[in-house]
Amino acid sequence: MQKSILIIGACGQIGTELTLKLRELYGEECVVASDIREGSDSLMQSGPFELLDATNYEAVEDVILYHEIEEVYLMAAMLSATAEKFPERAWNLNMNSLFNVLNLAKENKINKIFWPSSIAVFGPNTPRDMTPQNSIMEPSTVYGISKLSGERWCEYYHNKYNVDVRSLRYPGLISWKTQPGGGTTDYAVEIYHDALSKGNYQCFLKEDTKLPMMFMDDAIRAAIELMDSDTGQIKVRSSYNLGAMSFSPKEISESIKQWLPDFSITYQPDFRQSIADTWPSSIDDSKAKEDWNWAAEFDLTKTTAEMINQLSKNF
Ligand code: SER
Repeated sequence: MQKSILIIGACGQIGTELTLKLRELYGEECVVASDIREGSDSLMQSGPFELLDATNYEAVEDVILYHEIEEVYLMAAMLSATAEKFPERAWNLNMNSLFNVLNLAKENKINKIFWPSSIAVFGPNTPRDMTPQNSIMEPSTVYGISKLSGERWCEYYHNKYNVDVRSLRYPGLISWKTQPGGGTTDYAVEIYHDALSKGNYQCFLKEDTKLPMMFMDDAIRAAIELMDSDTGQIKVRSSYNLGAMSFSPKEISESIKQWLPDFSITYQPDFRQSIADTWPSSIDDSKAKEDWNWAAEFDLTKTTAEMINQLSKNF
């Protein structure tokens, strides 16, 4: 099926792999990448690219009209740890970019939107184990507040204006192509890089801080499967809980030791510990399983094998 797609925030951790996958599926010319900065060579050379500020409504509208875009994946955002340092900038980026695409859809200039939410929408009063789809939501970070507000606006635009917006609450994402930036779950990517380059890792979370995580291939497939589902299947218009695995820094380090027996880890918790302490340790994603047949493929063992194999090609 031919359709023209715009990815906003295409040079980030998710955007890079999402763009490459969508180009493989729908053809390079149909998938326009955009970001405020240029990205990796493979991204820049594999199809059209636009320098774009996601908070500038006219600029986003121009790109959409020029390329006759039908679907938008809005991946631009400031993540949890950086947002705590720049609260107002984070709020402006995370909210204004979302309003821009929601309003363009309301005006029928695009047909469909994907927008990622996060486990950060939950807070210290949420049940931590197998956190349900509907629960107490009192996020205590700027990032979490922006994502929860965004979820409410998505549902509102769907109910009021029939905007077809679809969303997933991503857990921490583990990938080898592009590094994450500014998140609390970033340790689970850094650890593989340091294990291979230095043989040790100093972790900014405590050894027993268990968080929900997912390998990037699953995360990309989830977004595309959600976007390809029939409208009638999508029963949740705020954002779906999405799960794959859960582990602590100690558990991921044990899994790395299966490959690199001399690997060692030390713990020096910083301000990110207090963010992690308010997030779920595992997620109940039965609603996503029920509504559009979600099933994760990567557990920790498979993720570690893939990360070590892919990253060790660089050493
Ligand atoms: N991975 C994100 C973060 O740590 C959560 O969505 O900020």
